[in-house]
Amino acid sequence: MLLEVKQLMVFYENALALNDFSLQVDNGEIVAVIGSNSAGKTTLMNAISGLILDIQVKEKRKGGERVTVLGEVWFNGEDLSRMSPDQRVKKGIVLCRERHPIFPESDVLENLHIAGYLRSRREIKETVDLVFTLFSNLAGYKNRKAGFLSGGEQQMLTIGMALVVRPSLLLLDEPLLGLSPAMQTKLLSAIKTIRQETRVTILISEQFARPLLPMIDRGYVIENGMLTLSGTSRELMKNPEVVSAYFGV
Ligand SMILES: Nc1ncnc2c1ncn2[C@@H]1O[C@H](COP(=O)(O)OP(=O)(O)OP(=O)(O)O)[C@@H](O)[C@H]1O
Ligand SMILES: [Mg+2]
Repeated sequence: MLLEVKQLMVFYENALALNDFSLQVDNGEIVAVIGSNSAGKTTLMNAISGLILDIQVKEKRKGGERVTVLGEVWFNGEDLSRMSPDQRVKKGIVLCRERHPIFPESDVLENLHIAGYLRSRREIKETVDLVFTLFSNLAGYKNRKAGFLSGGEQQMLTIGMALVVRPSLLLLDEPLLGLSPAMQTKLLSAIKTIRQETRVTILISEQFARPLLPMIDRGYVIENGMLTLSGTSRELMKNPEVVSAYFGV
């Protein structure tokens, strides 16, 4: 077992965003977390990456919502629950956030190099080559300021930036958000290639399951912070509840 989330509870003040949520991801799997708006997907990703601890501190400092986190996150047989996001990155967990920040004034190549600060030049070069093979439209824009890329291109760049870190677990929070169906197909096929080429394990959250389910190994359905269903790709695709709730437009 690579990742084990055990009975996670996250409260924002008194509202429960994750309720006794558990999941497991095996080495090499692509696993989905399916849920509609406000279901708790980003909260889950933040809890696994450790970002929730930063949010907790920030909210406390500015006198905002009191954030409470209970439960455990285990990775490679180690309890990371109290570890900072930086420490978790060093362990191999890299989160690609919804609207992940880029450096708009730096060009595409510079952004990729900045993301790889923990890696050697050779490792960076290898991954950058892979990124430009995966996302051929980015390859033409190596020296373009990242701020001038389209939303879809920026999404590709942020996934590229996550890959340059060379994660063993890649967390993708709604990577299809705002992409056209053609771009979605392209991105999903790139994700499959990423697993083949790098053997990275992938946990991916989405609200529309239709394009995603065929390419995953297993998935979990989250509603109001709670796990309602889990199963293999095939099981979820033929589940009428999944089809009616998550196959919409
Ligand atoms: N910092 C915060 N303070 C207070 N409430 C929050 C905070 N972050 C999230 N929430 C609440 O927690 C619940 C879960 O939010 P979360 O962002 O995890 O959902 P999501 O599944 O990612 O939704 P979306 O699909 O819209 O991105 C929501 O009701 C949200 O309003
Ligand atoms: Mg979200």
